[in-house]
Amino acid sequence: TERWSGLLHHYGEWLPLTERTPRLSLCEGNTPLIFSERLSERVNASVYLKYEGANPTGSFKDRGMVLAVAKAKEEGSNTVICASTGNTSASAAAYAARAGMRAIILIPDGYVALGKLAQAMMYGAHIIAIRGNFDEALQLVRDMSDRFPITVVNSINPYRLDGQQTAAFEVCDALGAPPDVLCIPVGNAGNISAYWKGFQAYQRGGKTDRSPRMFGFEAEGAAAIVKGHPIEHPETFATAIRIGKPASAHLAVAAARDSGGAIRSVTDEQIAQAYRWIASEGVLAEPASAASVAGLMCLADAGEIERGQTVVCVLTGNGLKDPDSAMKHSDSAAQVVDATADAVAQLLEGMQ
Ligand code: F0G
Repeated sequence: TERWSGLLHHYGEWLPLTERTPRLSLCEGNTPLIFSERLSERVNASVYLKYEGANPTGSFKDRGMVLAVAKAKEEGSNTVICASTGNTSASAAAYAARAGMRAIILIPDGYVALGKLAQAMMYGAHIIAIRGNFDEALQLVRDMSDRFPITVVNSINPYRLDGQQTAAFEVCDALGAPPDVLCIPVGNAGNISAYWKGFQAYQRGGKTDRSPRMFGFEAEGAAAIVKGHPIEHPETFATAIRIGKPASAHLAVAAARDSGGAIRSVTDEQIAQAYRWIASEGVLAEPASAASVAGLMCLADAGEIERGQTVVCVLTGNGLKDPDSAMKHSDSAAQVVDATADAVAQLLEGMQ
């Protein structure tokens, strides 16, 4: 088999590439689709986890960023800018570095998980931490793009959604057919819109003959779409989706409606429970990602999942990005003992 060399190579015919588009790559995409036996049993369906944490910067953002940065480069730009709760900024910083461009990122001070900040620093981004939230950061980015010759690489840049469609392609390619149900976290509402666009493109292109029902899940303290109005002060421990004015809300609502799905909310407690559940199966995702699994459990409990259906839950980001949440939500801790056989044997004795 051929070596995997990234999304622009593998799915180029489905993307708006020209001869002049640089074939940028960090070998993103081709992420695992992991069958979950325990979740399948829990909800009486066949449940797969789309593990986007296996992308080069540890989140699904790489799918859209590779294309957005390549197109920015093609158009002669030398600087990209974005607002971010962390993952977009890590990805923008990495692909800008790869393309020899400058990245400027605006983040909500104090609300970005440690690993994401560390990434942006190492990739060499210009980091501006604002005393405000993501929604304010995004407004500032829009303002700055009117005043400076810089390219916005938030998901309001259409190339981001074009690139993120590839996750839907991979799901269909891996299963040999579309799933019946897709469960996905919703923050700024770009990813659910991109998946829907991808499923629709595959169906129009004759690759598939139907598309899944799309279920998006917001955190209850940041559930602008579910509540039908912007949230001025969004709150959730899942900081990746701590967003009160989702820029692509209209597209997400259309995806849910047209597919026969819905946008719902899950509580921080439900997110935390799902976060621990998947880790106990050996799959560590960041808290926001677990909203998809929390949402699936709610759907199942409400009798909305038919027996035997195929369900894909998207795990959007790697659990290693947020070590503070991992430490806080796990119940194991290191037992420190002397480096002697007696001391270690005594502990093992207690485990028999
Ligand atoms: N999951 C993770 C891990 C995310 O980082 C995000 C968004 C989402 C889900 C929601 O996706 O915004 O397309 O609805 N993170 C953005 C960021 C906002 O700045 O990294 P969405």
